[in-house]
Amino acid sequence: MKGIILAGGAGTRLYPITLAVSKQLIPIGDKPMIYYPLSVLMLADVREILLIATPEDLPQFQRLLGDGAHLGLRIEYAEQARPGGLAEAFIIGADHIGTEPVVLVLGDNIFHGHRFSDVLAGHAGHVDGCVLFGYAVHDPQRYGVGEADPEGRLVSIEEKPVHPRSNRAITGLYFYDNDVVNIAKNITPSPRGELEISDVNRVYLERGKAQLVDLGRGFAWLDTGTPESLQEAAQYVSTLEHRQGIRIACVEEIALRMGFIDADACHALGKAIGKSDYGKYVMSIAREFHD
Ligand code: G1P
Repeated sequence: MKGIILAGGAGTRLYPITLAVSKQLIPIGDKPMIYYPLSVLMLADVREILLIATPEDLPQFQRLLGDGAHLGLRIEYAEQARPGGLAEAFIIGADHIGTEPVVLVLGDNIFHGHRFSDVLAGHAGHVDGCVLFGYAVHDPQRYGVGEADPEGRLVSIEEKPVHPRSNRAITGLYFYDNDVVNIAKNITPSPRGELEISDVNRVYLERGKAQLVDLGRGFAWLDTGTPESLQEAAQYVSTLEHRQGIRIACVEEIALRMGFIDADACHALGKAIGKSDYGKYVMSIAREFHD
């Protein structure tokens, strides 16, 4: 299964923060935002990843993540030159996807919850149709909104409806079979000229092959769209990290625990940034793992 992280967009609702820096590179707690969606793909055991961003922002992502080899990954990069919609990711990424299924995660989505890796493992690799993840929110009109039947089959989907039919937002994590490339190529662009992800999902719905998995009330899907929600997300992460002494979305630790790298390699990654508490944490995890 291949992975795509879509980190495009101008982040206009966060101006002036994002005037000179990509939204997905600004910090949440003590790490760049992109670490969180990257962690999701790693926990799904997806190691071949395409990162899509604007031509201006790509060099910074490359500087941060390189070719991914240090994390036991293969990261490639592609440009989205203008806002063509989320579903354009499958057209830009068609070669990367090849004949495999694919998981798309949006670069500004933060997921955290107990046994999330089990949820991911349950869907990774063998998708027939698409699998979407729903989350109850108080402001569904800001998102894609879905309804499912008792079997978890998606029965309606609307993009940013004025009068939502449910409070179930569709999160920015999507598993697809290989048909998604063809579907994306054939949908009609929105009046703004964008290929909407909800239109792709509607094709799967019409085929009876769209599943909506409820993430449940104990789960955290955090918003990063406004300065206030960014601060709330950072607060959430720091509160849990401080209380438990473990880090959320520490990509070096995940690479180690997933068996992508060994303890020595992990320790070296921590040492390279060892003046920071984050680096010290990575070294301590590697030492613990060794013993
Ligand atoms: C996009 C999708 C929307 C989804 C949301 C999740 O909206 O179009 O369906 O619910 O991501 O983050 P955007 O954030 O691009 O407005």
